[in-house]
Amino acid sequence: MSVTLTIDQHIAWIVIDRPEAFNAMNESILLQIKDAVDTIQKNEDIRVAIFMGGGTKSFVAGADISYMSSMTPLEGEKWAKLGQSVFSTISELRCPSIAAIQGYALGGGTELAIACDLRIASEKACFAQPEVKLGIIPGFGGTQRLTRLIGPGNAKQMILTGNQFSAQQALAMGLVNEVVPHDQLTERVDALALSLASGSPNGIRLAKQAIEHGLQSSLNEGLQLEAALFGLCFASPEQREGMTAFLEKRKPKL
Ligand code: CAA
Repeated sequence: MSVTLTIDQHIAWIVIDRPEAFNAMNESILLQIKDAVDTIQKNEDIRVAIFMGGGTKSFVAGADISYMSSMTPLEGEKWAKLGQSVFSTISELRCPSIAAIQGYALGGGTELAIACDLRIASEKACFAQPEVKLGIIPGFGGTQRLTRLIGPGNAKQMILTGNQFSAQQALAMGLVNEVVPHDQLTERVDALALSLASGSPNGIRLAKQAIEHGLQSSLNEGLQLEAALFGLCFASPEQREGMTAFLEKRKPKL
């Protein structure tokens, strides 16, 4: 059971591979994800992080139910806080992140996907927040991030029913950005990652900050932050290169 981190041409692939449990996450898996994310955050050469499940059937089938089954209330809270903090490190990554979802994204699996910036799903992917069927609620950010991403109506439909939703239904709700044929998932995610990697890392980092902070503040505060970060862009060589390249009718070296 392991999480592997592979870095190739500015792109990091984090693969969660626990075949005996459809890649369900226990404490060891969560801590390995955290280590991988910390490594990515420290490496300025990495421009995109991709999260994927090992095998072909499952992205991540949620938190490990056998691991959680005998938890006390305090252990449950501690577990939720651990998952939330790991997933927050993903959403706070300096570089953009993509969830490549080839199969089941259930419970903590959907929560992992929505901690990423973008989600590309295979037509065979399937999403659910099935926690109410287990007598619990989502604990790794689902009640909060899902509601912000797809709105309270859709989030309540998923969380209160616990039902599974197809990739096409997820697309209609705005839960995923794109649905692609199953055998083209890696290829499409790779192409998206290369396109993201060609943008200004500083611009992308500041745009992410403006969006994430804006979601937690009033419109006016968000606009003030946007103006301040916009100004900050002009302290970066990437702004000079990006604009000079445009004016010289050449590709920028960002
Ligand atoms: N935790 C622990 N083990 C799991 C698991 C999970 N989340 N998901 C799958 N497994 C294990 C099964 O126990 C089974 O193990 P054994 O072979 O030892 O019996 C093995 O994976 C294969 O599973 P199934 O036999 O059930 O295979 P299936 O093809 O019939 O169904 C599945 C696959 C739809 C993924 C089904 O296993 C399933 O529904 N899993 C549970 C999904 C779930 O409820 N996730 C939410 C967890 S709660 C959570 O995530 C809370 C949170 O917010 C953090």
